[in-house]
Amino acid sequence: MKPLCGRAIILTHHYQRSEIVELGDAVGDSYGLSKIAASRDDVEYIFFCGVHFMAEAAYILSKGNRKVYLPNPLAGCPMADMAEMTDVLEAWEILANFGGDKRIMPISYMNSAAGLKAFCGRHDGLICTSSNADAAYKYGLKRKEKLFFFPDQHLGYNTGIKFGLKPEDMVIWDFSLPSGGLTEEQINRAKVILWKGHCHVHTNFKAEHVREVREKYPQARVVVHPECSHDVVALADAAGSTSFIVKYVESQPPGSVIAIGTEINLIHRLAHFHPEMKIFELSGQICPICVNMYRTTVNDLAYCLENFADTHPITVPDDIKMYALIALERMLEVH
Ligand code: 13P
Ligand code: SF4
Repeated sequence: MKPLCGRAIILTHHYQRSEIVELGDAVGDSYGLSKIAASRDDVEYIFFCGVHFMAEAAYILSKGNRKVYLPNPLAGCPMADMAEMTDVLEAWEILANFGGDKRIMPISYMNSAAGLKAFCGRHDGLICTSSNADAAYKYGLKRKEKLFFFPDQHLGYNTGIKFGLKPEDMVIWDFSLPSGGLTEEQINRAKVILWKGHCHVHTNFKAEHVREVREKYPQARVVVHPECSHDVVALADAAGSTSFIVKYVESQPPGSVIAIGTEINLIHRLAHFHPEMKIFELSGQICPICVNMYRTTVNDLAYCLENFADTHPITVPDDIKMYALIALERMLEVH
């Protein structure tokens, strides 16, 4: 076996343990890492230190030209699992009575399985991340009357408000209820139908956490991820993807006090690299750790690098890959 050097890259998400990020060739948010995966034709292998949907998207975007490995195969995303294809197809069948493809565009957050991405590609829709969700709304509402947004109700709602929609323009599709728990009138009136999924890490942040920080540190800046509920986002100074949060911190002057509402590993790293500021986790009480991101250890990565030839790379059936690629390439175009 030829040495891996020069033939492989290690991609790491911002929520990874610091010792993993240090070993990576690049660190980024899901959008940035997807772009790298799509463009690095010069490598044969990608070792993706993140969660399953990220590695899967990297494989699809590499058009089968690169082998992609997830060093800890158990690293999933519970939010992505909240949109099961059987529930999605059942919902779409009902929405066919409201115009289906003609009136409704499905948009899925990157945090979703390849099957849902392919569903979006098949129905003229697209994928977005937290860094281009507003551009995806613009793209969708230019072409169709309604959006069906999966699986994060909070990112979907926050994006709608940012886009200028009113709360009454958005409804939540509760997949555990018949017809999503919605009346015909509610579906007809809605501009955005939000799938009832959420991130259990980000929904732990509450509005009172922001108020408490502001009381204790009146000069504090509060920056959060848009997977937080809208009452938190509305009280924060800024909201955006993990890379946005990093850039936000870097743009603040020395002496700044910054409370951050996102995953703890990223917050710790930012605090470590910016001793000239006071940086801390917004709630001060919960430990917002994404256990799935935390699963990947240096041992996992080392084992995967040494034994990749005997390890299963991430793959996706061809028909799913073809349609998911359409939706993912649209994501890269829309920014
Ligand atoms: P970013 O795209 O902002 O990196 O977010 C990914 C994620 O899973 C946040 O919980
Ligand atoms: Fe999924 Fe939440 Fe973890 Fe992001 S932080 S990977 S949305 S569980």
